[in-house]
Amino acid sequence: FPSAPPKAKKHDYVIVKDFAGSIMGRLSDVFKTAIKEAFPSVSVTLVLTEATNPKFGDYQCNSAMGISAALKAQGTSKKPSEVAAEIVAKLPPCPLIEKTEIPPAGFINVYLNDQFIAKQCGEISRNGIKLPSIESRRVIVDFSSPNIAKEMHVGHLRSTIIGDAISRLFEAVGFDVLRLNHIGDWGTQFGMLIAHLFDEFPNFQKETPAIGDLQTFYKASKKRFDEDEEFKKRAYQCVVKLQNKEPEFIKAWTSICDVSRNSNNAVYDKLDIKLTERGESYYQERMGAIVKELTDRSFLREEEGRHLMFPTGCDIPLTVVKSDGGYTYDTSDLAALKNRLNEEKGDWLIYVVDAGQSLHFDTIFAAGRDLKWYDEAVKRVEHVGFGLVLGEDKKKFKTRSGDTVRLQDLLEEGVKRSEEKLKEKGRDKEMTVEELTTARDAVAYGGIKYADLSHTRTQDYVFSYDRMLDDKGNTAVYLLYAYARIRSIVRQSGVSEEEMEKYAAANELLPLGHVKELKLAKQVLKMSDVILQVLDTLMLHTLCDYLYTLSTTFTEFYSECYVVEKSEGSSKVNMNRLLLAHITANTMETALKILGIRPVPKM
Ligand code: ARG
Repeated sequence: FPSAPPKAKKHDYVIVKDFAGSIMGRLSDVFKTAIKEAFPSVSVTLVLTEATNPKFGDYQCNSAMGISAALKAQGTSKKPSEVAAEIVAKLPPCPLIEKTEIPPAGFINVYLNDQFIAKQCGEISRNGIKLPSIESRRVIVDFSSPNIAKEMHVGHLRSTIIGDAISRLFEAVGFDVLRLNHIGDWGTQFGMLIAHLFDEFPNFQKETPAIGDLQTFYKASKKRFDEDEEFKKRAYQCVVKLQNKEPEFIKAWTSICDVSRNSNNAVYDKLDIKLTERGESYYQERMGAIVKELTDRSFLREEEGRHLMFPTGCDIPLTVVKSDGGYTYDTSDLAALKNRLNEEKGDWLIYVVDAGQSLHFDTIFAAGRDLKWYDEAVKRVEHVGFGLVLGEDKKKFKTRSGDTVRLQDLLEEGVKRSEEKLKEKGRDKEMTVEELTTARDAVAYGGIKYADLSHTRTQDYVFSYDRMLDDKGNTAVYLLYAYARIRSIVRQSGVSEEEMEKYAAANELLPLGHVKELKLAKQVLKMSDVILQVLDTLMLHTLCDYLYTLSTTFTEFYSECYVVEKSEGSSKVNMNRLLLAHITANTMETALKILGIRPVPKM
């Protein structure tokens, strides 16, 4: 077996300027300082986690064991609990921390200060959620990227959904994001498609050819290509003429691309996704320049007429030029890499492509490092892979007849089922037609997106309409209901936005006493930590889990804490609780928007 190409080393690419609301960020700062002061001779990475059980406080520092071991290696013996005590003694004053506790095993349990929580909540109700401020980066996200003439399939749907959410996350923290659709619009398959177009629509230069379904068109031309030698020859000639950019061939190619583009755009529009199309064809001239550079710098080796590059540590080479002189997927990705680094000046290059292509990307990136195109310590160049979409039979997602599922059909089916669900619940009787349509689409598209995003990205997941449209459990429908419910609680209190604002402005603190109030407030405050974590891992299920916990925590709060107290005809609003509900909804809204899900005020 060939050995896998070397993975890029992990670096800290997220540089935080101001932790703002990030509790973990601020706690890790004080703990790092304390550790450095108490144990200047050891260098260990800080281990700080959320406490798994309220018995252990809110957060936990687990560094003492590592430090104790490091000291031992230096010839000093100190029990973890002693180490922990010395760290605590050096903790700088910190408004977040109420107290610390050191159980015998040597953990440090950290309890948050209630005043601090009240202050943060007050601030959020005045100014909204403030995400940590991060040094801005120019980020290029390559996602969706279907191949022309072949229908976009569920694999591309995953890339589309994940890539869009990652882009939204970057945009939310103020990055400069270029969303690129690297469509496959330049392969040898165009030879047969163009030859077939000439035969089927000889008039294509004057009238738009009614290609209709591209998949059928593709299959028909492929059949001729496989069975008819004469046709095959013509197809090859067409490729050469296309690559030489002869006008008639460019025209034919454009017609074919347009059909594909229109059907893809319909999907993007429905899903509220913006992309800049920059397909493989864009790199045609740049590929020539790459071949020249690699030749001049002696990076190519000729084997049986092919020109190959063997990046360090990679057994499988890149085919830069084929024996017929043509370029490949490797060539276009080398050109795209260099273009994104040098011309586009990208700091982070993110490729959202199925995990099956990880070998390809590892090899391309290894080549980029060999060529000294970039320094991986500074530039984040990363393949963000994902698993397969499976049918409920746990096999690759297919239609009953075994064809790839058309995305348009998949979305339509989702919309149909979502409408049925809403009607089952009698929502059509309570909402206007317009409200119902908005809710229906939010549920359908939100359901499809959330089902994807809430699963660990790198794993396969089972596509199930029933599951995604279930209103119980960790689903978009549940979250959308929970969100709409909080908004309605706030609406029905009769307190206007202005009155809430006034109250928030007049009260610096949002004092909370009840355990469930505090629990909810702490969960709201975790949002910034989650954002930082996801920026690092690009694992969006973490944000989904957070959202789900936030809404179940709200339910716990609401079942024990009255927002509006009614007694004998009069009712009294607990303003602190009302504002807590309000900022919970705002936090949910921010998170849902990052996931690309449209929150609706009424469901
Ligand atoms: N068109 C490719 C496919 O459908 C995905 C392209 C991903 N992006 C890239 N730069 N290679 O498999």
